[in-house]
Amino acid sequence: MKMTKYRIATIPGDGIGPEVMASAVSVLSALAEKMDGLSFEFTEIRAGDGLKAETGVAMRPETVDKVRESDATLFAAVGETAKEVILPLRQKLELYANLRPTKAYPNVPALKEDVDIVIVRENTEGLYKMVGDRGDGWGVNLRIITKGASERIARYAFELAKKDGRNKVTAVHKNNVLDKTCGVFLDACREVAKSYPDIEYEEMIVDACAMKLILAPEQFDVLVTTNMFGDILSDEAAGLVGGLGLAPSANIGDENAIFEPVHGTAPDIAGKGIANPIATILSASMMLDWLGERDGAEAIEKAVMTILKEGKTLTPDLGGSATTVEVTEAVLKQL
Ligand code: NAI
Ligand code: MG
Repeated sequence: MKMTKYRIATIPGDGIGPEVMASAVSVLSALAEKMDGLSFEFTEIRAGDGLKAETGVAMRPETVDKVRESDATLFAAVGETAKEVILPLRQKLELYANLRPTKAYPNVPALKEDVDIVIVRENTEGLYKMVGDRGDGWGVNLRIITKGASERIARYAFELAKKDGRNKVTAVHKNNVLDKTCGVFLDACREVAKSYPDIEYEEMIVDACAMKLILAPEQFDVLVTTNMFGDILSDEAAGLVGGLGLAPSANIGDENAIFEPVHGTAPDIAGKGIANPIATILSASMMLDWLGERDGAEAIEKAVMTILKEGKTLTPDLGGSATTVEVTEAVLKQL
C-alpha cells in the first residue's frame, strides 16, 4: 500500500485565525485516520500581530524556508501585519497564481444561484509590488507589470480551464486608461490564448466586469487579471455567493503553495467561538487537490456541502447559531 506522509506547515495568525485553523487541522487529521496510506505531520509557525507585539517582527526570517521545505502550507489570517507576512511569502516563494473559486452553495443566500467562476489573480507584481514613495502631501505607488509574469498567469488560467473542462477565459484589464501596464498584460494573454484554440478567449474592462459580476455572473467561467483588480473582484465575487465565511483560496507557484481563506482576522467576532471555519476547511480541500489527493479533497468538499444542504449546523454569519466547534464536529461526523 502506498504510504504518503505530508509535511504541512500551519500559520494560524491572529484573531479568528487560530480558531479556524484548529478546525481545519482536526478535519485533516480525521481524514488521515479514515483514509489508508494518508497522513500529515503539522508544524505550527507563529506570525502576525501577536508575534510582532512580542518580538518586534511579524514574521521570523526562517519562516520563508520552513514554508519552502514543507509539502504545503495552510495559512489562516493575520491582522494589521498582513503586508509583512502573506505578501512577502507570496513574492519570495514566487506563488504567482492566486486562485479563488466562487460558486453558489446550497442553502446560502446568494445574489445569483448560477455562479461557478474561478478567478485567477496574478500574485507577485502590479501595484502590490509595494514600490513607491510618500512626501509632504503626495504619494506614489508604482504599477509594475512584466511580460514574463503576465504570460505565466495567462498560461496558468488556460491550463486550469483545460484541466477542469471550462470553456472560456476572460482577461480583465483597464487598457483604455492604464495602457502602458495593461497593454503588456493583454499582449501576453492574447499570445497565450493562441495555443488554446478550443477555449474561448475574451477581454473585459474591469469596471464593466465588476458590474456584470452582479448582474450576469453566469456568463463568466475563468477570469484572469492583474493583482489588485483580482483582489477586489474576488471579494466582490465572494459577496455574490454569500460572504467571506465560505471563500477559500490558493497561492500557487511551481514548487510551493499556500492555501488560505479569503477572509481576515474578523476582530469583531474573534474569541467568541463563532467564526465560520468552512472557508479554511475548503482551503484545506484545495490543498489536498494540489497535493494530488483528489479523493481526500472531494471527501472534505462533500462533507461541507452536506452540512450546508442540511442547514442545521451553521454559524451566525450564515444565519445559524452554531459555534465553530459545532460546525467542525458536524463536518467530522460526515467524514
Ligand atoms: P475580515 O475578513 O477580517 O472581516 C470582514 C467581515 O467579515 C467582518 O464582519 C467579519 O466578522 C466577517 N468575517 C470574516 N471572516 C469570517 C468568518 N470566518 N466567519 C464569520 N464572519 C467572518 O476583514 P477586515 O475586517 O477588513 O480586516 C480585519 C483584519 O484582517 C485587518 O487587520 C486586515 O489587515 C486583516 N486581513 C488579513 C488578511 C490575510 O491575512 N490574508 C486578508 C484580509 C484582511
Ligand atoms: Mg483581499
